[in-house]
Amino acid sequence: MKIAIIGTGYVGLVTGVCFAELGNKVICVDNDSKKINSLKKLIIPIYEPGLDDLVKRNVKNKRLSFSTSIKDAVNNSEVIFIAVGTPPRENGEADLTGIENVARSIAKAMSSYRLIVEKSTVPIETGIWVEHTIKLNINKKIKFDVASNPEFLREGQAIDDFMHPDRIVIGVESQRAKEILTSLYKPIGAPIVVTDIKSAELIKHASNSFLATKISFINAIAQICDLTGADVAKVAEGMGLDKRIGRAFLNAGIGYGGSCFPKDLDAFVKICEKYGYDFKLLKIVKDINHRQKQIFVDKIKDALWILKDKCIGVLGLAFKPNTDDIRESAAIDIIKRLLQEGASIQVFDPQGMEKSKAILEGVKFCRDPYEAAKKSDCLVVLTEWSEFKELDFKLIKKLMRQPLIIDGRNIYDKVLLKKLGFRYICVGRPKI
Ligand code: UDX
Repeated sequence: MKIAIIGTGYVGLVTGVCFAELGNKVICVDNDSKKINSLKKLIIPIYEPGLDDLVKRNVKNKRLSFSTSIKDAVNNSEVIFIAVGTPPRENGEADLTGIENVARSIAKAMSSYRLIVEKSTVPIETGIWVEHTIKLNINKKIKFDVASNPEFLREGQAIDDFMHPDRIVIGVESQRAKEILTSLYKPIGAPIVVTDIKSAELIKHASNSFLATKISFINAIAQICDLTGADVAKVAEGMGLDKRIGRAFLNAGIGYGGSCFPKDLDAFVKICEKYGYDFKLLKIVKDINHRQKQIFVDKIKDALWILKDKCIGVLGLAFKPNTDDIRESAAIDIIKRLLQEGASIQVFDPQGMEKSKAILEGVKFCRDPYEAAKKSDCLVVLTEWSEFKELDFKLIKKLMRQPLIIDGRNIYDKVLLKKLGFRYICVGRPKI
């Protein structure tokens, strides 16, 4: 099929390149000409494992191209995905200006039937507004359909998530749209859930909110563990083996971050408010997540007493491993709080350093975990990169001022660290 993807951000680029890999002809469009020019030179704006090779291969075999022109893309495609950003407004609502503008431009460029698919995470009823906007700006005789096809890609494993999803959700209002989208996704071989457009929009919000709830729930349990001496890792294991609960997303830590959960929960609470429903549960989920960071800073304070002029080595900046994304990263928030307390910070992250330099002033960015540990009063783990799991702890101990590790992601074997002479503090797990 011939496909246009409008918006070449994270979701748009991954979606476009994966559709190309499946044998479709894809044009990725963005109004940021700098980004498009870089992509034409095969410079990839984000770090995502496997993306680089896939872009290069599909550009080379001419299945993937980049453009700044919505008009050209609409002329040359049967299916048009809208994947522009929906950034939060000050009150937490999603800003849909980008979607409206794109819908208008698509309508003006259309000369025959097109299927327009919303891919961005959008409030319920955006589909209706997209349809309305297109109708207002199009030659009345031209037929079109609108559909919703929310993405569930996780950063760091987005390509695998696209190629091997648990399910594909398609919200459609016509047989024609249903047939186009089901045949487009057929090669993937995953279960396809076909719904109306509003239900598809809601599935995305409900899924993200549920996952965030799981994380806040286990973080609340971690609190109880810290108070009682129980072990949250064991509790999660015991709960997770119940198939109705499942072990995924029960890792206690410093709270969720990233470009999706925080923003999407805010937007969903606002949507519900608009319809007259006060989603108190989600407000508490957000509140637990927010407090989790201060609770962790308090653990550091309890261990070091006064933070002013203490040297803290930090491992991790990205909001999770395998990404360079630091948006809404709990690590960044915690580092800022430690700086405010007067601590000096020396940090290492395998991918997140470049983006952090612009927002973290007065921090020393290190070459590796060992430089971050050197002469520090404690070593703090904020992102669970796998390379942090296999460190030379004997060397770390020699380098540090005192052997103290405070782990916000519960990645270490506490018995081993104790044997090596470390004091080890983590989240929701008793000291030994
Ligand atoms: C998420 C959803 O998983 C994805 O389906 C959606 O389309 C976009 O939002 P992403 O933001 O890339 O994906 O990351 P995810 O792997 O879900 O992690 C989100 C945050 O939750 C991270 O900060 C992570 O560290 C945290 N997390 C996750 C936990 O604290 N504990 C867990 O058990 C799992």
